[in-house]
Order: sequence, then C-alpha cells, then structure tokens
Amino acid sequence: MKVTLTHIKADIGSLPGHTTVHEDVLNEVKRFLKEQSKGIIWDHFVGYVGDDIQITMVHDNGVNASEVHKLAWDAFKSGTEVAKKLGLYGAGQDLLKDSFSGNIKGMGPGIAEMDITPRRSEPFIVYMMDKTEPGAFNYPIFKMFADPFNTPGLVIDQSMHDGFKFEVWDIQEAKAIMLNAPEEMYDIISLIGTKGRYVIKRVYTKKEHGKLPDENVAVITTDKLSFIAGEYVGKDDPAAIVRIQSGLPASGEAMEAFSHPYLVSGWMRGSFNGPLMPVAMKNSKMTRFDGPPRVVALGFVYKDKKLTGPVDMFDDPAYDNARKLANDITDYIRRMGPFEPHRLPEEDMEYTTLPKVMEKLKGRFVHVDAVEKGVSKNSTGRDSD
Ligand code: F6R
Ligand code: MG
Ligand code: MG
Repeated sequence: MKVTLTHIKADIGSLPGHTTVHEDVLNEVKRFLKEQSKGIIWDHFVGYVGDDIQITMVHDNGVNASEVHKLAWDAFKSGTEVAKKLGLYGAGQDLLKDSFSGNIKGMGPGIAEMDITPRRSEPFIVYMMDKTEPGAFNYPIFKMFADPFNTPGLVIDQSMHDGFKFEVWDIQEAKAIMLNAPEEMYDIISLIGTKGRYVIKRVYTKKEHGKLPDENVAVITTDKLSFIAGEYVGKDDPAAIVRIQSGLPASGEAMEAFSHPYLVSGWMRGSFNGPLMPVAMKNSKMTRFDGPPRVVALGFVYKDKKLTGPVDMFDDPAYDNARKLANDITDYIRRMGPFEPHRLPEEDMEYTTLPKVMEKLKGRFVHVDAVEKGVSKNSTGRDSD
C-alpha cells in the first residue's frame, strides 16, 4: 500500500517578536485540520518550533498532492486570521501568495514529503529548526547516514553496510545530483560543506539494501523564502523527516548527530552564525539575540493509517551538555558583535537588509589611486569633518 508522509511548516505570526507561536493560533490550525481533513489525510500532528507552526500528515495521495497541500495552506490561512485579530507580529508572514495555485511549493511554506513502503513498524523522527536555513541539515544528515563515528550501524549492521545515496541540490542554480556514500563520500562533503548553496534534499537506500531497497528514507525542506520573495522575509527555517531503525540509522544514531551544537547560519536577522541548540518543543521560544537557533525532534511510529506519538526527543537531560555548550558558544561568539565570522560573509548578506544600507554609500567610493594622488580630498569626505 502506498503511504505518503508530508510535513508542511510556516510562520504565520508570533509573540512578541519572532519569538514563539500563540496558543490561539495553534489551536485554530488544529481545529481547522480536525474539521476539514477527513477524506484527504488519515492522520496528522500539529507541532511548533519557535515562531513556526509545523504540520505532519500521513495519507495515500502521493507527493505533490494538490488537496493535501491546499489543506495545509487553508489551515495556515485560518490561523493567520486569528493572528491578525490578536495583532501578532508578522501575521501571515510566510504565506507569500494571495491564493492557492495547485501546489504549495514556491508559495512560502516549507515542505518535505516522501512516499514510503511502510514496514511492520514504521518509526520516524521529524526534526524542526528555527532561525536557520535548509543547509543546517547537511551536517547531521551526513553524520546519520554516512559517518561511522556517529552511526556504527554503517560498520556493524549488514543491512546498512553498503551505505546510502544522497540527492544533493544546488539551490542557487536549481540543479540536483545523486551521489553514493561511502564511495563518493569526499565528493559529497566537497559540496555540502558549502551549506548555503548545496543542500541534501533526500537520502535513499541502495538497490542492494538488505531490508528496504531503493527507498526514500530522509527528506528535507529546501524552500528559500528569499528566492521567492526576492528579499529577506525571515530565514527559511527548515524541517526534515528521517525514517529510523531496522537497516536505517537507529533512533539513537539519528539523535546522536545533534549532540554537538555545530554552527549554523541564521539567528538574528538571518545574518549570523551561531550554535544549534537541541531543545524540547516547550523550550523552543527564541529569546537571546532572537535565538540561539534551535532544533526540536518529534518521534513517531506509523501503523494502519494512524500516527502514534510524538515523543519529544530532546526533552531529556542527555542533551543538557549540548545545551550548555551552545550557551557557552553563544557567550563567546556574541562578543564579536557585527563582525565576521559571527556575522555572515558578504555574499550571504545579499538577501538580507544590508544591501539597502550599502546602496547609500555606493556613489561615495572613489578609486584608491585617486586618493593616493591626493586629488580627491572632497570626494572621500575628508574635508567635511
Ligand atoms: C530571523 C528573524 C528575526 C528578525 C528580527 C528583525 O530569521 O526572524 O531575527 O529578522 O527580529 O525582524 P523585523 O525586521 O521583522 O523587525
Ligand atoms: Mg519569523
Ligand atoms: Mg521561524
């Protein structure tokens, strides 16, 4: 039987700044889905991280199903009305188009979905990040599916021993490439280390996989809001679905990839590098410097048209040290203020609000040779002090 897992997320307004979702808005999205989802999807869960509402759905309409996308879009629209009434900040922020047109891609919300062949037990984890970008998943997804120091199953479980296939997207050029791990591991890393451009979109098992051949086992949202809107409209806070166990990374191998609070870009004004802090859903409000960037993990199993769960996976003392380290890194890196490498490099600032500031100075630049010859005192403004 064909089963599709679909995860769609959007920021439709938050309290007080880009901090957290409001209960009434969350409840409206839940109410809408409860009433309107019958006959379209089998089951769903509404969660959140920071200012983003996240809908996990299961159904048999396949990927790119218009009716499923529209259901999520309409639920977000309905939630937006409540956000507007309360005067929440950025109400409807990620709904960039006026009306739904067949497919939610390119309309603002982030989407990750995959068709699966359900196993006897079908466990998976939904990871949801706020104040960062799709490339923030490159490091942990690579670790889960290709790094034996993170995932010993790659070495000691026969059914994982052949490795996995990585579908990597160049999100600037809209191109994709399929690469095999471990054979092409160095090629994979050479791309995905450039996380603002090359992002892991999907992971597949290989044909020779012992238990689940040629199957999509992980999918990540790659939607770039700035590419749609042409300007900065919030970071592209990503989400991912990762299937686990029985020939795939164990739950704990998938979780282990987040034990080190690695640096991601996003955070304040989408313009800073900072540590990714693993937190419980209830602790995902964005406070210090609009962050630090956070990740929430929700564990589910699917069976007979039903989702069971979630378990809030980072709601656990085992992640206290990662949180402490993330706070220490925050203390350290914040002291750099607006300087690189805390602030992102110039090329990554292209879609932020900085270019508008730079525009003002453009006409005041003169060639350095002219300055050296001392002929342009006025044009560099030296006399105007
Ligand atoms: C980052 C983010 C926030 C805002 C910041 C300024 O993704 O959402 O850090 O960029 O709070 O927001 P505005 O410009 O809406 O006042
Ligand atoms: Mg926001
Ligand atoms: Mg957000």
